[in-house]
Amino acid sequence: MNKGFMLVCDGSNGAGKTTVIQGIADYLEQQGFDVVLTREPGGTPIGEKIRTVILDPSTPEMGSVTELMLFGAARAQHVEEKILPALAAGKVVISDRFDAATFSFQHYARGIDLKTITTINELALGGFKPDMNIILDLDPELGLTRVNQRGEGLDRMEDEKMEFLHRARQGYLVQAQAEPARFSVIDASQDKQTVLNACLKVVDSLVAASRQQDNNS
Ligand code: TMP
Repeated sequence: MNKGFMLVCDGSNGAGKTTVIQGIADYLEQQGFDVVLTREPGGTPIGEKIRTVILDPSTPEMGSVTELMLFGAARAQHVEEKILPALAAGKVVISDRFDAATFSFQHYARGIDLKTITTINELALGGFKPDMNIILDLDPELGLTRVNQRGEGLDRMEDEKMEFLHRARQGYLVQAQAEPARFSVIDASQDKQTVLNACLKVVDSLVAASRQQDNNS
């Protein structure tokens, strides 16, 4: 059995995560991997209920600590109920956002101190870390234009000031610089196929590492 691994696709709102994730899943399935697609906030029945509460644009009064703890609660359930069992069964998990988003949005953009963020993330993760974060990097102004073109309306986070979204973007770049082995930044302003090809290169190196581990065990 192949050893499972977890890949996160994250980055600016409107950067094209959904298309990239589907492309990566198809690519991996063609190679015989059993792929589990998931997302944050969400991924489990409880997490999806929490998502509805977090993103509801009719409650802009939500406090930043409430927001942080809801993301943390959804993540704790996600890891325990879905991610760890899937990895133990040798599957590949691809998540649309994960813990790096909390650093970017709740710490870097919202301004909650790093110690509190780390405490909540560690509690939710219980020592677990994804193998790779692909960051689709895009100017938030362009991202929001794309979100608006979808015509679905803005959620509570997308409704934040542009300055907030710029800080969140910066938060991802800071993390990628600090941990280059676990972060790959892709320029999401390029055309869709170029973006996907760049992501598949990252996936190739993950697959190679996972096969190497299988051979060693
Ligand atoms: P999305 O799934 O459409 O990207 O929406 C999720 C939103 O929630 C997005 O604006 C990023 C934000 N978010 C956080 O602020 N912190 C987190 O920990 C996560 C997972 C997402």
